[in-house]
Formats: sequence, C-alpha cells, structure tokens
Amino acid sequence: MQILDGQLVSKATKDELRIKVAQLVTEGKKVPHLAAVLVGNNGASETYVGAKVKACQEIGFKSTLIRLEDDITENKLLSVIESLNEDLDIDGILVQLPLPKHISDEKVINTILPSKDVDGFHPVNVGKMVQGLDTFVPATPYGIMLLLEHYKINTKGMNAVVIGRSNIVGRPVSILLSQSSNPGNCTVTVTHSHTKNLKELCLNADLIVAAIGIPEFVKADMVKEGAVVIDVGITRVPDASKKSGFALKGDVAYADVAPKCSFITPVPGGVGPMTIAALMKNTFKACELKN
Ligand SMILES: NC(=O)c1ccc[n+]([C@@H]2O[C@H](COP(=O)([O-])OP(=O)(O)OC[C@H]3O[C@@H](n4cnc5c(N)ncnc54)[C@H](OP(=O)(O)O)[C@@H]3O)[C@@H](O)[C@H]2O)c1
Repeated sequence: MQILDGQLVSKATKDELRIKVAQLVTEGKKVPHLAAVLVGNNGASETYVGAKVKACQEIGFKSTLIRLEDDITENKLLSVIESLNEDLDIDGILVQLPLPKHISDEKVINTILPSKDVDGFHPVNVGKMVQGLDTFVPATPYGIMLLLEHYKINTKGMNAVVIGRSNIVGRPVSILLSQSSNPGNCTVTVTHSHTKNLKELCLNADLIVAAIGIPEFVKADMVKEGAVVIDVGITRVPDASKKSGFALKGDVAYADVAPKCSFITPVPGGVGPMTIAALMKNTFKACELKN
C-alpha cells in the first residue's frame, strides 16, 4: 500500500508556481491576484479561506480577503462580486461556500465572470469541462487528477465508483475520470443516497472516490484488494483530546481499508492540500489568460 501524499504534491505544485511568479516579478509583469469572499463566521470556512490566503502568500500571489456579515443581503453580495469582476487587478474570485440560507449559491456563482471563476463552478466553465475543453476545473476534482497524475497511476480501463454526486466534487470528478485522457479513461459509476447496491458496486471498483460527508462510511468489506481509494470527506467530529476540540475524519475507515489498497489518500493530508494547490494553479492560469 502506498499513501498518496497530498501534502507533498501540493508543496511541489506550489513551489513550481512560486518559481513562475518570481519570473513574472523579474520581468516586471503583474502577479496573480486572488479575491476571496467569506460570508459569516463558519469555523470550517474560516479555516479553508485562511489556508487559501496563506498559500497565496507562500507563492507570491496577491490576495484580498473580503469578510462580510452573515446577514448581508443577496443584492449587496452580488454587487460586491460585480465590483470584483470590474476590478482589473483581480484575476480570480472565489466565494467560500456554503452561503447563508437566504442567499442563492446559484445566483452568486452565475454572477462571477467566467474568466475569473477560479473555482470552476460557473455553468460556462462546467460546460467546457464536460466537453473536455480547456477551462477552470473545480479545485477538488482537479486536485484529485493532479494527485493521480503525480503518482503515475494508470487509470485506463479501471472501473471507478464515485460515491456522491455534488456539483463541487462527485459530479465533476466522475466526468474527468470518464474523459479520454490520462488520468481518465475509466468506466465510471456515479452513486448517491438512492443507490441500492453500493457495496457490490464498490467491491467491483478498481478506483473509489468517496465524497459523501459521512465519517468512515466506506468500510473494509466494501473495498477489493488492490483498489485505489481517494477520500474526499472532511468532517469535524468532537475530540476532547485535541486543542481545537475536534478531529478531522474522512469518509473512509482508513485503518481497516488502507491495508487492502494499492494507493490511498489520508485525511488530513490527502485531497485537502491538493484542493488548495489546484486553486492556485487556476488563479495563475486566470492571470496568464488575462495578460
Ligand atoms: N478535501 C477537500 O478539499 C474537500 C472539498 C470539498 C468537499 N469536501 C468534503 O467532501 C465531503 C462531500 O462534500 P460534498 O460537498 O460533495 O457533499 P454534499 O453536497 O453533501 O454531497 C454528498 C453526496 O453524498 C451522497 N450520499 C449521501 N449519503 C449517501 C449514501 N448513504 N450512499 C451514497 N451516497 C450518499 C449524496 O447523495 P444525494 O445526492 O442523493 O443526496 C450527495 O450526492 C464532505 O465531507 C466535504 O466536507 C472536501
């Protein structure tokens, strides 16, 4: 069994970007600038946005964090996004999800200019991704593909089972794995809460991507020997032994599943850091395309 070390690959990806940014500075060119919008005080969202801003600093990108109260009106948030769209210095915009219930995710995503949509959630970018065109691929699925690529995992012809069909993880990763590419060329089954024979489907899978949000949902008796397992889940569970008061749990029962796998991602340290690295790649690309 080999661990897919997201921390290591993320660092290598960020190092490559740092060298490219240093080159831009030497040439007197503009460096990428990411604007992150955080609405409210959700602890997990604060952590994710903080990690994204920190990654920008490490690489040499500019970043602007816009904090808004959770009672902000939808119209006011949309006008903040419109002004970021018009700001020539901003290359990428991300709005941290989830948003408060009174705000429509869809309206917010649709307001971001597709050329600045570094999260890759705008329908124009999703459409391009589905067609296999060059675009901003959503950061978590993109990070997973970068990880598979780094470890030279030959996914051609694999039976892949994706557990979860969300717009940000399950659905896009299923599309990417099915594309005629490397990694890719898998035969993909997308599963969800209405799937009847999940255990049998998983037992037939060479590759499992778990994006459910239920800690340790994937048990050892659902995984065949030699499978590749990608654990996207991150759930905070109470843990009095930790200073923070919580531990992070993945969707896979790691201790029991890992010995059966050829490759597996840990939580933390797997898909999470790759998501950040992929977002940074998208932000660099947005700046490159604009300038
Ligand atoms: N590492 C990272 O950077 C990163 C990034 C994004 C998300 N995440 C984590 O990944 C997890 C999933 O996130 P998400 O946004 O995709 O979640 P989500 O929007 O809540 O989607 C969960 C999916 O799991 C499916 N599901 C629920 N119960 C199931 C069951 N018993 N059997 C099969 N499928 C089931 C749901 O099916 P239905 O569609 O039928 O409801 C849904 O499609 C969360 O823990 C999240 O925190 C991590």
